[in-house]
Amino acid sequence: MKGIVLAGGSGTRLHPATLSINKQLLPVYDKPMIYYPVSVLMLAGIREILIISSPEHLDNYKRLFGTGEQFGLTFSYALQPRPEGLAQAFVIGRDFVGDDDVALILGDNLFFGAGMGDLLERARGRKEGATVFAYHVDNPQAYGVVSLDKTGRATRIVEKPTKPDSTWAVTGLYFYDNQVLDIAADVKPSARGELEITSVNEAYLQRGQLHVERMSRGYAWLDTGTHDSLLEASEFVRTLQNRQGLQVACLEEIAYLQGFINRAQLIARGEMFAKTNYGQNLLRLARESEDELRLR
Ligand code: G1P
Repeated sequence: MKGIVLAGGSGTRLHPATLSINKQLLPVYDKPMIYYPVSVLMLAGIREILIISSPEHLDNYKRLFGTGEQFGLTFSYALQPRPEGLAQAFVIGRDFVGDDDVALILGDNLFFGAGMGDLLERARGRKEGATVFAYHVDNPQAYGVVSLDKTGRATRIVEKPTKPDSTWAVTGLYFYDNQVLDIAADVKPSARGELEITSVNEAYLQRGQLHVERMSRGYAWLDTGTHDSLLEASEFVRTLQNRQGLQVACLEEIAYLQGFINRAQLIARGEMFAKTNYGQNLLRLARESEDELRLR
């Protein structure tokens, strides 16, 4: 399975912080925002990742991640000339995806939850159709909204409804089989001029192939769209990390625990960042025994 991170957009709601840098590179506490969605793909066991961003910012991602070998990953990069919608990721990424299945995650979506690994595995294990993740929110009109029947099956999906008939928002993480390439190629621009991911999901719903996983109360899906929500996300990560002494979205740690990199590579990265808690965490991890790691 391949992974795509879409890190485009103009970040106008975060001006002037995003006048010269794009939103997904801003820090959420101690690491760039994009680390968080990349960590989700890694937890799903995905190792080939395409980063899509705007012409002004793509080079920053190349500088940040390079080939990806430091995480045992392979990164590719592609341009989205204008922010014309999430579904365009599959038009731009068609060759990258090839004959494979693919997961898409938005570069500004932060997820946190103890059962994340299992949830992702279930989505990845499905051979046919699409899987989206529904999260109960207070303001569904800001999102794609999915209505569910008593058994939890999707009955309707609508992009930013003015009068939502459900409180389940569709998060920015999607798993698709290879049909998505042709479905996305047929999507027509919406009233706001975008190729909507909701149109792709609607096509799967019509085929009876849209699976919905609910992220229950044990999960955090954080917004980073405004100055306040961005600061709140940073505070959330800081609180967890300082209390537990464990890192959230530490890419080298996940790579090591997933077996993507070895101990020597882990130590090399820890030494690079030795002045920070992030680096110290990597060095401590390298000292821990297999038994201790299993308990984490
Ligand atoms: C996009 C999608 C929407 C989804 C949301 C998740 O919204 O169009 O369906 O619920 O991401 O973050 P946008 O960021 O374009 O407002």
